[in-house]
This record gives sequence, C-alpha cells and structure tokens, in this order.
Amino acid sequence: MKYLILYSSKYGATKQIANWIKQRLELDKKEVFCLDVKDFKTSDEKYDVMILGTPLYSGKATQEFYDFLDNDFDKIDFDSLVIFAVAMQKKACFDEENQLKFLNDYEDIRKIAKIQEVLLGEMIFDKLSKDYQDKLMFFYEKIGLTKEQIEEKRAPRTLLSKKDVWDFAQKL
Ligand SMILES: Cc1cc2nc3c(=O)[nH]c(=O)nc-3n(C[C@H](O)[C@H](O)[C@H](O)COP(=O)(O)O)c2cc1C
Repeated sequence: MKYLILYSSKYGATKQIANWIKQRLELDKKEVFCLDVKDFKTSDEKYDVMILGTPLYSGKATQEFYDFLDNDFDKIDFDSLVIFAVAMQKKACFDEENQLKFLNDYEDIRKIAKIQEVLLGEMIFDKLSKDYQDKLMFFYEKIGLTKEQIEEKRAPRTLLSKKDVWDFAQKL
C-alpha cells in the first residue's frame, strides 16, 4: 500500500502529527511519502491513500492548503482520501452532518473524503506572530474574558497526543 501525506503547518503541530501518522503506517510496512503542501510539485505515481492535513485558524485552513486544493488536488491519482484538521477543540469543527466545516466551499472534495477527523494541536502564545497575538487578545476581550482567564489562555497549552494520532493512523 502506498500513502501520500500532504500537510500544511504554521507552528509545527500539524507537521508533528503528519510525521507521527507516517511513523505508525511504516510500522505496518506501508510505503509513505510525507511532505509540506508548499513543496508538492506533481506526481506521476498512483497512491492507494492520500491523507491531507491542515491546522485551523479562525475556523479556516491555511492559505497554502486552499491553494493546493485549488491548483494541485486534481493532479494526483489516488484511490481513497482522508482529511484531518488540527485544532484546539473538535466539536465546533464539524457541521450537523459530521462534515468538516472548513471545506464548505469544497463540496466535491469533501464528498469523497471517507474519513474526516480533527486531531488536537497546541498553542504557545509567546511563539505566535504579533498579528496572531493581537487577533487572539481582541477575541478574548470581545468574548469578555477576565484578566485571569486571559492569563490562563496565554499559558503554553498542548493537547498533542501521539497515542490519539497512532490510534487514528491505525484505521487508515
Ligand atoms: C489566531 C489563531 C486562531 C486559531 N483559531 C482556531 C480555531 O478557530 N479553532 C481551533 O480549534 N483552534 C484554533 N487555533 C489553534 C490552532 O489550530 C492550533 O494552535 C494548531 O495546533 C496550530 O497548528 P500548527 O502548529 O500546525 O500551525 C487558532 C490559533 C491561533 C493562533
């Protein structure tokens, strides 16, 4: 079985998850190619499974990920498609039909993704760009968090779980 994992990642959590998926698949002797969507050019190969992963920022995938869907997705030959998003919570990422919301405008692609999952990531406030820090502070203030609650949110938080990622990879 041949797998292609294409991911996008701003601060490394999705990259880490993509690599854990690769590691787990390789333990089952699968052939796995794993790369950043930015580095994907074209491929003449046929893959049994293509796995796409992006972090969510304000409910959306990264621009690089959407660019890939717009420009390169159709160039790849695969049998089945799996899509995962990385976020700090799962529930709000799905609609009532358990479809990933960030793919609302990509119904054709979403329809063929037989597995759609959200895996938990991490947030290290001090590592974020000034722009993201400002956006988050604006959001926290808008929803009326107290100073203490904001301090709590700003503390480094990780929900990354290699076990959860391996459990997910085992089903692929
Ligand atoms: C500005 C900003 C917006 C975010 N928006 C969401 C969101 O809408 N939903 C969510 O669950 N997580 C959100 N997150 C958390 C990220 O999805 C999480 O940090 C993820 O691990 C980032 O992955 P990466 O390191 O691969 O870029 C946001 C983080 C930042 C900095």
